[in-house]
Amino acid sequence: MADIPQLTFNDGNTMPQFGFGIWQVPEDIAAEAVESALRLGYPLIDGAYLYLNEAGLGEGLRNSGVPRDDVFVTTKVWNNEQGRDKARASVERSLKTIGVDQLDLVLIHWPVPDQDLYVETWEAFIEMRDEGMMKSIGVSNFNADHLDRIIAATGVVPALNQIELNPELQQPRMRRENAERGIVTQAWTPLGGGRSFEKAPLTAAAKHHGKSPAQVVLRWHLQLGNAVISRSVNPGRQKENIDIFDFELTDAEMAEIATLDIGARTGPDPSVFKMM
Ligand SMILES: NC(=O)c1ccc[n+]([C@@H]2O[C@H](COP(=O)([O-])OP(=O)(O)OC[C@H]3O[C@@H](n4cnc5c(N)ncnc54)[C@H](OP(=O)(O)O)[C@@H]3O)[C@@H](O)[C@H]2O)c1
Repeated sequence: MADIPQLTFNDGNTMPQFGFGIWQVPEDIAAEAVESALRLGYPLIDGAYLYLNEAGLGEGLRNSGVPRDDVFVTTKVWNNEQGRDKARASVERSLKTIGVDQLDLVLIHWPVPDQDLYVETWEAFIEMRDEGMMKSIGVSNFNADHLDRIIAATGVVPALNQIELNPELQQPRMRRENAERGIVTQAWTPLGGGRSFEKAPLTAAAKHHGKSPAQVVLRWHLQLGNAVISRSVNPGRQKENIDIFDFELTDAEMAEIATLDIGARTGPDPSVFKMM
């Protein structure tokens, strides 16, 4: 099994740099997908209340036979459950639905600046972490101004910021903003919907290393220093996507891939997104 690097958070805890995400994995196959990923050696599962498959996450975890302590489990609090009491109820429900005593990481899913509850939610996260409901706390889709507000209000810096990041949206500024504050950047939709799989920097590197464009993209994330979560419900592609620890992209290949950045999101803009 692959030897997956660990990243160290600003709170001293560690997290595998690579893992498996379950957005859009239907609840009726989530357990099977999680079990298969864990058996293949994925050490981290990235869930969320919004994905409506936390029961499957827990079932897959138990069915896999992998000890609980060897799997890093993340979940997230959705937009309409921000605020002190609702955020607590959301995390309590996630613990119960997944069937674990403690989560490794819980994230505020989106800042939703319009409702202006993310500072209060962050204060609740700090209390819950201190009570042991989760080991670490972080955010997702936060811009620099959102980060600065919660840090100024509480003095507590998020362990991680999970943002959309792929070859067409390389987010150099947000990666720098996170790094300057001691925050790990984790990439969501790391393959970018395969928008650049046919582009020369990826096809050339894939040919050179005997890998697929998807493997080259996932490897590129690791070499940039991103934490990355990949998703597939297809066991063959699950195996392919974790088979990225036996080759290294050259500096020239990394530079070529950098030219694919067109700043184009597949998802919404965090400064305005407010879906409930
Ligand atoms: N915080 C947020 O707001 C947020 C937003 C979006 C996602 N996320 C998290 O990030 C995770 C990853 O993002 P994502 O789910 O969009 O994942 P992704 O890994 O970028 O893309 C998954 C899609 O690519 C296909 N795929 C996977 N491996 C492939 C391969 N080797 N070759 C060709 N196609 C392949 C999958 O199809 P098959 O399943 O058919 O293989 C699926 O349609 C999510 O699951 C979720 O945990 C977070």
